[in-house]
Amino acid sequence: MCGIIAYIGRRDAKSILIEGLKRLEYRGYDSAGVAILEGAGDLQRARSVGRVQGLEELLGDGFNGSVGVAHTRWATHGGVSEPNAHPHVDDKKLGHGIALVHNGIIENYASIKQWLAKKNHVFESETDTEVLAHLIGELYDGDLEKAVQAALREVTGAYALAVICPKEPDTLVVARKGSPLMVGVGADEYVIASDSSAIVAHTKQAFTLEDYTVAKITRDSIRTSTVDNVEITPEIRELEVDLEEIELGSFEHYMLKEIYEQPEAIKRCFQGRLDLRDGQVRLGGISEFARKLATAKRIVFIGQGTALHAAMIGEYLIEHIAKIPAEVEFASEFRYRNPIVEPGTVVISISQSGETADTLAALTEAKQKGALTVGLVNVVGSSIARETDAGIYLRVGPEIGVASTKAFLGQVAVATMLAAYIGRRRFYSQDDLGSLLNEMDRIPSLISRVLEQSDDIKKATSRYINRENWLFLGRGMNYPVALEGALKLKEISYIHAEGMPAAEMKHGPIALIDDGMPVVFVATKNSQYEKVLSNIEEVRTRGGHVIAVATEGDTDIQSMCEDVFWVPDVAEPLQPLLTVVPLQLMAYHAAVMRGKDVDKPRNLAKSVTVE
Ligand code: AGP
Repeated sequence: MCGIIAYIGRRDAKSILIEGLKRLEYRGYDSAGVAILEGAGDLQRARSVGRVQGLEELLGDGFNGSVGVAHTRWATHGGVSEPNAHPHVDDKKLGHGIALVHNGIIENYASIKQWLAKKNHVFESETDTEVLAHLIGELYDGDLEKAVQAALREVTGAYALAVICPKEPDTLVVARKGSPLMVGVGADEYVIASDSSAIVAHTKQAFTLEDYTVAKITRDSIRTSTVDNVEITPEIRELEVDLEEIELGSFEHYMLKEIYEQPEAIKRCFQGRLDLRDGQVRLGGISEFARKLATAKRIVFIGQGTALHAAMIGEYLIEHIAKIPAEVEFASEFRYRNPIVEPGTVVISISQSGETADTLAALTEAKQKGALTVGLVNVVGSSIARETDAGIYLRVGPEIGVASTKAFLGQVAVATMLAAYIGRRRFYSQDDLGSLLNEMDRIPSLISRVLEQSDDIKKATSRYINRENWLFLGRGMNYPVALEGALKLKEISYIHAEGMPAAEMKHGPIALIDDGMPVVFVATKNSQYEKVLSNIEEVRTRGGHVIAVATEGDTDIQSMCEDVFWVPDVAEPLQPLLTVVPLQLMAYHAAVMRGKDVDKPRNLAKSVTVE
């Protein structure tokens, strides 16, 4: 997903913009660029394909000014190239040197481009963004704010924008619809960025732009209005993010840091919500809808990727604990198949970023059809969090690593609390809830115990890192955990890994098993344990090497597998909170040993805000 950072103030814009781009690198990108207004308005622009560091070297000692915009681009319209990188400027001959950076998609850019071409505009790139720059230039009549408002009234699609113009060297105009944009309010300065990670180093006072909002910013003033120029007052709040949360600290990678943050993250996720004394789960964000949830006829989970795997675990938990029919849908499928949403349906969106385009669109479809919508989201104030009727924040802190780890655990932890919350309002007894809460309270320390195996896991993994095809198998709730393990491995080590129900292997995939093939079983003591032992035998007799995640003390499985990673014995509904941890570590170590870019894997973005 693209990243935007803009600055207006009295300090050197270049260093602030480059540092901000580095904080936004985790979002995923393939090129970057910066534009700065020097002195009385001389616009300087530089763009490059590749890492932000390369752009920084390009800037050298030049680019001295205190107003600027910068961007990391994840290619959508137009390939990865310097001409397609942002900032884009308006027409060389007809324009005013207007420069802008953009995150989103201008859906009607082609028709606007044709209209502008008839007015002799010449375009350098294949992008929709450049068309928007030319449109603003065409409509500019000495007032940048008005030109931006007029242009945005003409476009359809999604945008987060930051715009500067040499003729107004003391002005920065920003705007938002659909793609997040946050304004950090400092002392005689403003830092605008796609998310708080690029703002919190400068100020903790900030607000998120609402959709269809334009802000005209000078060093000591800000005016926010709609694209129709109706003034609005933003709600400035204290950012909940601390700088050290987004710093790498002593870790080599954010992913490893976030794996090791999981005990603390889950403790924070449960804090104030697990009431062991009164035997209650307290979820303020959904309490208004407690009755509707308890009488729901059907619960549909939607999400993508890791969030979908957490949704699959949520499905088991809702049916097992709350006894309500539940199902899971890829958000990208749900949104297009004209789903049947009858009265009494609850749709639960799971998303770390709260900005995944498919999940947001599926949520909109569910609302359109009258479902009660609930969001299980990590980023406070994100689009999905704002669009749902109710919600539960994960509270695991900012997740920077592209491969989701602590957020997955947070999603599962919140789904568990939600199932218990609803279940207790239905048939789940006080005793059952009481014992579940006591076990949940132990989970953070049990995660720490699993993490102690990291060196053993690294050693075992090293034996298989040159195998290019792995299988991940599990039954019951261990099946979505197997899917998550496969996703972790493939997205950062680029090994082809496939997850499936253990029973499914015999219906075709067993043909893949050859001598030494790594087959990972999530094989804790659960209601289908004996069946899994048979599946392990089927793999071993065909030469496969079995790596198992198993319950501490299980000597049977130890005698059957090449490698075993252990998890403490907990109630079946809580097992996913532990069994995924060895798989996260295995993927991490495999990627590092294969020399891959763990935090910025190729082709991936932290949040997929385009379809
Ligand atoms: C998981 O490691 C991936 N980064 C990806 O599958 C991610 O979970 C998916 O894109 C959904 O993102 P979201 O949780 O922000 O909606």
